[in-house]
Amino acid sequence: MEWPVATLSPSEKYNLITDCVVPRPIAWVSSVDAAGKINIAPFSYFNIVSSEPMIVSLSVNRRLDDQGGSERKDTALNLAHTGDCVIHIPSHDHAPAVHATGSGTPPTQAQIDALGLQFAPSRQVKTPRIENCAVALEGRFLQQIEVGSPVVADLILVEIVHIYAADDLLHNNRVHPEPYAIAASKHPRN
Ligand SMILES: Cc1cc2nc3c(=O)[nH]c(=O)nc-3n(C[C@H](O)[C@H](O)[C@H](O)COP(=O)(O)O)c2cc1C
Repeated sequence: MEWPVATLSPSEKYNLITDCVVPRPIAWVSSVDAAGKINIAPFSYFNIVSSEPMIVSLSVNRRLDDQGGSERKDTALNLAHTGDCVIHIPSHDHAPAVHATGSGTPPTQAQIDALGLQFAPSRQVKTPRIENCAVALEGRFLQQIEVGSPVVADLILVEIVHIYAADDLLHNNRVHPEPYAIAASKHPRN
């Protein structure tokens, strides 16, 4: 089977590229808005850019409207505004909460409470980390690249400045989250 990409609809493109590029790690990102409210959202367009300095990328798609306009998602707005975030590597136990926080609208405080999420202060950034998440990467906003014309995504580079990993993930002084980390490799629309 072959597909010339120019013949595909937007949903066919989404399905094909996310089916082919697997598994994708999930970044579960906490950030804080201008009023101090915590936001959490998952991103699977996420990876390492550089280890020295330690930089990761998040591609935050724009919300497109029918008039051809586009709007930044809250995570992109918060990162640019407050300058930091915490990127968590969620476990299978977190899967329902990950999906609940990626449904399209920012979770309210009541929804965050209902998901049983508790926060702990971070060491080097203002954004708190999710307390019971075994891997948390504290990051500072480094750069934002507007992708596409019209803009379809904000490609955000984040410098990691502090890493938390639960002690039971350590073996021979290395962190081993593989058996526990969830990845986007299933068919989300089926
Ligand atoms: C598993 C999963 C992975 C996702 N990956 C991305 C992604 O890489 N980029 C993106 O823009 N949205 C992604 N989303 C959708 C966002 O999480 C969703 O739009 C979220 O509401 C954005 O929240 P915000 O506006 O608070 O930033 C994903 C959703 C799920 C459930």
